Amino acid sequence: MTSVRLRLASRRLLRPPDVRGLRTFSANSKARLHGATAVILAGVGLAAASGAAYIYWHKLSPYPEEGIFPASPVKLNAVSKHLRLALYYAEHAVDYPRAICHYNDAIQAAHDHNLDPRADTTAGIHIKLAFLYKSLGRYGNARTILESLLADAQRPASAQDSNRLTARAVRLAVSLADIAMCLKDYKAADDHFHWAIHTLLLHRAQNRHLLPTEETIALMATAAEYFRETNRPILAAPLFLKALDMINPPNCTSAHLMNSIAATISGAGPDVSDSSTFAQRQESAKSWAEKAIQQAKNVPRQLKDQTCNQTCATANINLAIIADILNDRNEAIVRLQDAKVWAKKCFNIDINEQVKQLEQRLNYSTQVYKG
Ligand SMILES: *[C@@H]1O[C@H](CO)[C@@H](O)[C@H](O)[C@H]1NC(C)=O
Ligand SMILES: *[C@@H]1O[C@H](CO)[C@@H](O)[C@H](O)[C@H]1NC(C)=O
Ligand SMILES: *[C@@H]1O[C@H](CO)[C@@H](O)[C@H](O)[C@H]1NC(C)=O
Repeated sequence: MTSVRLRLASRRLLRPPDVRGLRTFSANSKARLHGATAVILAGVGLAAASGAAYIYWHKLSPYPEEGIFPASPVKLNAVSKHLRLALYYAEHAVDYPRAICHYNDAIQAAHDHNLDPRADTTAGIHIKLAFLYKSLGRYGNARTILESLLADAQRPASAQDSNRLTARAVRLAVSLADIAMCLKDYKAADDHFHWAIHTLLLHRAQNRHLLPTEETIALMATAAEYFRETNRPILAAPLFLKALDMINPPNCTSAHLMNSIAATISGAGPDVSDSSTFAQRQESAKSWAEKAIQQAKNVPRQLKDQTCNQTCATANINLAIIADILNDRNEAIVRLQDAKVWAKKCFNIDINEQVKQLEQRLNYSTQVYKG
């Protein structure tokens, strides 16, 4: 048992590559993404190299950019003025202390003018400030602000506000989970992810779609990746599967998620509490990784993006690692070669480290395949 565990620990499977489709969904979604953030899962280059979760944060736009406040009412002027200055110092002059001052002034002005604290615009100022704090590593400050917004959003005043505020609450919860991860407060991260997923799925079950499908998929995959990272495959796998179910017709993101499932199953560790044996799990992981490659190849040309090629590269190296675990050296070498060929077609993934380690373990020289 122990030796198996050590063996596994030293060869964790690659996290799948980042999903371009997911990453950019705010940019091409017309849906209202006002309410904060969604996080996206990891990129293989980054993640495999650093071992740390790489989280993509949505841009908050179109939060209180210039002009979003109704133009005419005089009482908004003070808010707008401070907001513009805050944005200027945060984004152009890169003078963060001054930006923070102006955000606080804008918040004060909004309060003085009795603006609805739950309006997207008002909450947006707080969110902007929280994100600035987060980017400066001042997680405590960011967390305090977001927690108070979350508490507000979880108590909708009226039924007609309910969906809008609950959607905001879900996004805030995911942002808070991310901050909790930065603070290594996994209990809080768990709670926020559980609440966000539970709320999303509950609404979906009643046919009330809080977030656009693309964002829902991204959110589920992010939570799943978090549970996988924190060694809870039993929580991760069903979430990946749910995310996979939501994609129709299947595309590169589906391939990516299949590879995530392979990595989850294979990395589950020997003490996972289900009845399958270690070897059975590797076989099952293998078939998921193979399915991922098949899916990536089947995506119609016009829908193909980098994610498909990245998935082929990472799924192949995962297959090489699985073959090695199953003591099939020849298969491992074949998969290793395939992984390298695919990796060359991607400009933004780096599997060199994994390749090198595997080659050493297999005592396999790659001179022949160079170039
Ligand atoms: C895959 O499909 C889902 C929903 O069906 C969509 O939201 C997503 O953008 C697509 N991804 C890619 C990479 O095309
Ligand atoms: C993926 O790889 C193929 C070669 O198999 C290449 O022609 C294509 O440009 C790559 N796709 C992207 C989006 O980079
Ligand atoms: C690795 O391979 C080389 C030649 O290919 C061989 O001489 C050497 O003994 C091998 N080492 C191990 C540890 O198997």
